[in-house]
Amino acid sequence: MIVITNNEGKAGIPVTARLLEAGKPGLEAVEAGVRMVESDPEVRTVGHGGWPNLLGEVELDASIMCGSTLRTGAVGALKGYLHPISIAREVMERLPHEIIVGEGAARFAHEVGAEAGDLLADHSRQAWNNWYASEVNQADQDIWPNAALIDYCHNAVDPEIGKDTTVFLAQDEHMDITAGTSTSGWGWKYPGRLGDSPIIGAGSYADSRYGACACTGAGEMTIRAGTARAVVLYMKMGMSVQDAVEEAVNDMRALKGGLISRVTIHAIDNAGNHRVVAVNGIPGNFYWYWKSGMEQPEARFAELIQITEDQPQNKPIAMSVYTQGT
Ligand code: GLY
Repeated sequence: MIVITNNEGKAGIPVTARLLEAGKPGLEAVEAGVRMVESDPEVRTVGHGGWPNLLGEVELDASIMCGSTLRTGAVGALKGYLHPISIAREVMERLPHEIIVGEGAARFAHEVGAEAGDLLADHSRQAWNNWYASEVNQADQDIWPNAALIDYCHNAVDPEIGKDTTVFLAQDEHMDITAGTSTSGWGWKYPGRLGDSPIIGAGSYADSRYGACACTGAGEMTIRAGTARAVVLYMKMGMSVQDAVEEAVNDMRALKGGLISRVTIHAIDNAGNHRVVAVNGIPGNFYWYWKSGMEQPEARFAELIQITEDQPQNKPIAMSVYTQGT
C-alpha cells in the first residue's frame, strides 16, 4: 500500500493511510483524505479558504478516478459546496457521465444532499478586496461586475507561489489504484476557467494495471500535454515510472506560447515505486509519502527540472502585495 500527496495534502494523508491500513478501499481512503484538505482554511488553493476568481467568487474543481474500472467522476467551476471531491465521487457512482460543471454541478450537488457552505474565508475576501481596490480602475469599478476581465486575467497571474491544489494517489491492499484531486484553481482566474484538476488525463489518471499520475501547478500546461494520461501510457508501453515522468517532462518542452509556468508531476507505478518532479519548481518544493509499515507519512523534496527560461509575463505576482493588513 502506498499514498503520495502533494505539499498541500498534509492534513489528509494520515487519514488516507489509516483507512488503507484498516483495509478500506482506495476510493474511500482518497476521498476521506481530500475532504480533510478541503476543510482546512489554511490551505489557500483547495475548498473553503481557497482563492476566489476575478469576481471574488470561489469556484472549485475536483475529480476522482478508479484505476480498476477506469470510471471517473469530476466537477468543475462549482460554487457553494464544501466537498467537491465527494460530489465528484457521486458523479462517478450515480450518473452515466464523467464530468459536470457550473450550474449543473451545483444542481447535482443539491440533489445528492451535498454539504453547502460559504467558501470565501475572511482572509481570502480581504485579499481580493485589496486586489480590487489597488488594481481595478475607477471606470471599471463603476460598472463592476460588468467590466471586461481579459486584461485583469492577464495581469493577475496565480498569486500562490510554489504550491496549489491537492492531489492524492493511493494503492490499496487489493492493488487497486485511485487518483483524487481538488482545487480552487488559480487565484484571480477568469470566471468559469477549468484547470487540469477535473480533466481526467491532464491533472490525473489511474490504471491499476500500470500506475497513476496527478499534477499540481499550471493546469494549462498539463491540459496541452495530456500529462497524467501520458505518464500512465508510457508505463503501459514499458517505461519505468522514472522514465515515464521524464518523457512527460520532455513533452512539456514542446509547448510554445501560452502560459509556461510551474507544474509538479506526481506518479506511482503498480509495484510501489514513485517519482515526483517539480517542473520549473523552486527549491523546497516537497510532497508527502507513506507506504505500509511506516508509522507516519514523511515529507520528501521533489526533484527540480527547468524546462524554460523565466518569462517575465509568466512570473507570479507576490501575494504579499494583496495580503498586507489582512
Ligand atoms: N493544477 C490546478 C489548476 O491548474 O487549477
